[in-house]
Amino acid sequence: MSDQPDIALRVKDLHKSFGPLKVLRGTTLAFPRGRTTVVLGPSGCGKSVMLKHLVALERPDRGEVWFGDQRIDHVRERDLGPIRRKIGFLFQQSALFDSLTVGDNVAFPLVEHGLTQMGADDPRVARVLRMVGLEEKLRHMPADLSGGQRKRVALARAIVLEPEVVLYDEPTTGLDPITSDVINELILKLADEMGITSIVVTHDLASAFKVADRMVMLHEGTVRLEGGPEVFRASQDPVVSRFLKGEANPEELAEINRVQARQPGVAASA
Ligand SMILES: Nc1ncnc2c1ncn2[C@@H]1O[C@H](COP(=O)(O)OP(=O)(O)O)[C@@H](O)[C@H]1O
Ligand SMILES: [Mg+2]
Repeated sequence: MSDQPDIALRVKDLHKSFGPLKVLRGTTLAFPRGRTTVVLGPSGCGKSVMLKHLVALERPDRGEVWFGDQRIDHVRERDLGPIRRKIGFLFQQSALFDSLTVGDNVAFPLVEHGLTQMGADDPRVARVLRMVGLEEKLRHMPADLSGGQRKRVALARAIVLEPEVVLYDEPTTGLDPITSDVINELILKLADEMGITSIVVTHDLASAFKVADRMVMLHEGTVRLEGGPEVFRASQDPVVSRFLKGEANPEELAEINRVQARQPGVAASA
């Protein structure tokens, strides 16, 4: 795949089931280098599962995962270090270590990869904390921080190894709109200043349209639509337009109407 140097990561015909639950059913996607791709889709559609395949935290039942020109889905766990070092992951739950200072949290990947003797005093720690506007919190404990600040610390930790790619899993979920927008601005700033390839999984549409160069919508385990934001805004596909309008689909409405009909005292037509 070295004939496509403009593609940072790709998945090809990815299949993944958990027991009887078929989550990915032939997902094929390419993530262009230096661009921000937003992956949209309802809760439970497999966005996080797809993201985990990109760092081999999940292995496909079938299909391929490529990092540049290297196929990684079969790479053994102990050989994944050099690949994972190039990919920062902002997990859905920011998951800071509560017993470590902010600085030690951010230094953790450097220590883990044996890249520093200095821990939180490594200048790279101060540098990324400065990038997220929290340099003065270096000696603080995570408990002293707001939700948005914790997210920013987690982001600093995700970029401390200067990755080529950053994966953001629901970076604004659970944050108020203003705090969310700070995160959006940071995603844009990091893409701009570090030339990072960003993959942002979200169901936050304001965030999606703010940061996306390209968008992808997953539906029932495959790619329903991909293209620029304008392609999504103009889409006549009912699945896409319902998602963008935040409307339930007819099956979901039928389900809640059935529930209402069965409950005495609740009007089925209400
Ligand atoms: N390790 C696992 N074992 C069993 N089921 C899983 C596992 N990981 C995810 N799932 C299921 O796969 C589906 C997709 O999950 P996920 O990718 O987390 O959805 P989302 O699009 O909300 O991120 C969900 O039904 C989830 O419960
Ligand atoms: Mg998820």
